[in-house]
This record gives sequence, structure tokens and C-alpha cells, in this order.
Amino acid sequence: MSNLLDLSGKIALVTGSSRGIGKEFALELAEGGAKVVVHYLKSEELAEKTAEEIRLKGAEVIKVKSDIRDPEGVEYLFEEIENKLGSIDILINNVGDHAPKHWEDIDFETWERVMSTNFTSTYLCSKRVLPKMREKAWGRIINIGYASSEKGLVNTKNFPYFVSKAGVHMFTRMLASDTSGSGITVNSLSPYVVENSDNFPEKIPMGRPAKLEEMAKAMLFFIGHGSEYISGANLEIHGGWLPERV
Ligand SMILES: NC(=O)c1ccc[n+]([C@@H]2O[C@H](COP(=O)([O-])OP(=O)(O)OC[C@H]3O[C@@H](n4cnc5c(N)ncnc54)[C@H](OP(=O)(O)O)[C@@H]3O)[C@@H](O)[C@H]2O)c1
Repeated sequence: MSNLLDLSGKIALVTGSSRGIGKEFALELAEGGAKVVVHYLKSEELAEKTAEEIRLKGAEVIKVKSDIRDPEGVEYLFEEIENKLGSIDILINNVGDHAPKHWEDIDFETWERVMSTNFTSTYLCSKRVLPKMREKAWGRIINIGYASSEKGLVNTKNFPYFVSKAGVHMFTRMLASDTSGSGITVNSLSPYVVENSDNFPEKIPMGRPAKLEEMAKAMLFFIGHGSEYISGANLEIHGGWLPERV
């Protein structure tokens, strides 16, 4: 069924769209008629499967493999996109990684991997798309956070994850302020636990995790007509979860 959003003529990049939430976002954007970039690092076969599902919807798609934790990988990704499709109108900063161990048991390499996957890639990709979005006076940037990390949720386990996601929120607000009035909006979408998670809490308020489809519909809210004034917002998809309630 159509998502009733006309994205024809728009070019969308969902970072980390070979699987999981990113794949669902890519399919939803294709459903709206956008040209879509499927981006991945290791999962070549899954990325191809996502691209094939997008082709079957009749949308144009390219697949790019690139490690976006550093400027070289980001530059390669955007050169490929600009040579093959054009400049990005919709950027979803979705790649994510975590290290669910006590912070003292994490080595520097792991710390650096989580910080650069979640935070540095968001900063680098956003910076890279801005000049062309400014020229077009239109752009949508959506960063994927984590529910309650905006409020400084502290956890001794998974600490680089929480720090990096808190940084994503701060970056979202800064960029929304810095681009205000330019036709570009910047927002974040923050799930608690989604059906593809590898780590389910004992108690989930709704009795089930969020569906991938529910994440994708929430993402469209920031892109659809009528969302022009919404910038710097953080939409939490947690089904009533309160971390402070025990
Ligand atoms: N799932 C949840 O319950 C949940 C809850 C809260 C927040 N989130 C956030 O939502 C986002 C998506 O989560 P998910 O669970 O759908 O993730 P996922 O299933 O683990 O998929 C991660 C995606 O990112 C790609 N990726 C990872 N590191 C990369 C790198 N350095 N360069 C390029 N691509 C890279 C992976 O590609 P390859 O497979 O090719 O390596 C894959 O496509 C993340 O930001 C996560 O923190 C998820």
C-alpha cells in the first residue's frame, strides 16, 4: 500500500540500510518514489536483497559499500552517489553499534569503534550533504538516537553507546539551529527497543518491542508535507517506557 507521500525526484541515503531499521527506512522511502542509496559495510548479500526489494517497487536504487567512520570513507560514499544519482535530499544517519560491557572492560579500540560509528559518522555525513542542500534550499536530516539518552541517561554498561547517542542529540539541536530558515530541517528519532534488537529487556511497557514498520512511519513524519516547521525535535518511540520508574 502506498505511504501517500510523494518523494519522486528526491534522492535519499539511509546509512546502514542492508538490514534492520535502516532497511525498513529505505523500503519506505522507495515506496514514496524516492531514488534510494542502500549503504552497508559487511553485509553484501543482505544489501543486494534490500536493493532488489526496492527495484521490485519500481524505484531507482544504487548500493554502496563504505566504512563511514572516517572522512575518506564518507567522501567515497558521496562521490559514488553524486556520480551515479545526484546530490542527497534526504539523509538518515542510521548506522549504529554498541558494546554492552562495563565501561572499564572496554578497550580503546571498542570505545573508538562505537563512538565513531554512532557519532562521528553522523557529523561527517551531515557536514558533507549541507552545501548542496543549502543550494537547493531543501533538505531533511534525521539522526537515529536512543530513547532517554537526550536526558543524560547514565549506564555503566554500554557507556560509549549512551555518550555517542547523547552527542547525536546535541548535534541535532545545534544543526537545526544553524540551518534554521534555510529549507533544511534536522531532527532525531529515538527508539527504545525494536523487534530486530539483539538485547530485549525483561519488561517492555507495551508488552512488545516497536515494529520496524512503526519506526518507518515515524520517520516519514519528519519528511512529509506540513513538517517544514519541525526542526531540532526528538521523537522518542518507546511506548511509554520511563527509565526512572522502577
Ligand atoms: N534495534 C533496536 O532495538 C534499537 C534501539 C535503539 C536504537 N537503535 C538504533 O537504531 C539504529 C539502527 O539499529 P539496528 O538495530 O537496525 O542496526 P543493525 O541491525 O545492527 O544494522 C546496522 C547497520 O549499520 C551498518 N553499519 C554498521 N557499522 C557501519 C560502518 N562503520 N560503516 C557502514 N555501515 C555500517 C550495518 O551494515 P553491515 O551489516 O553491512 O556491516 C547495518 O546495515 C542504530 O543507530 C541503533 O543504535 C536501535
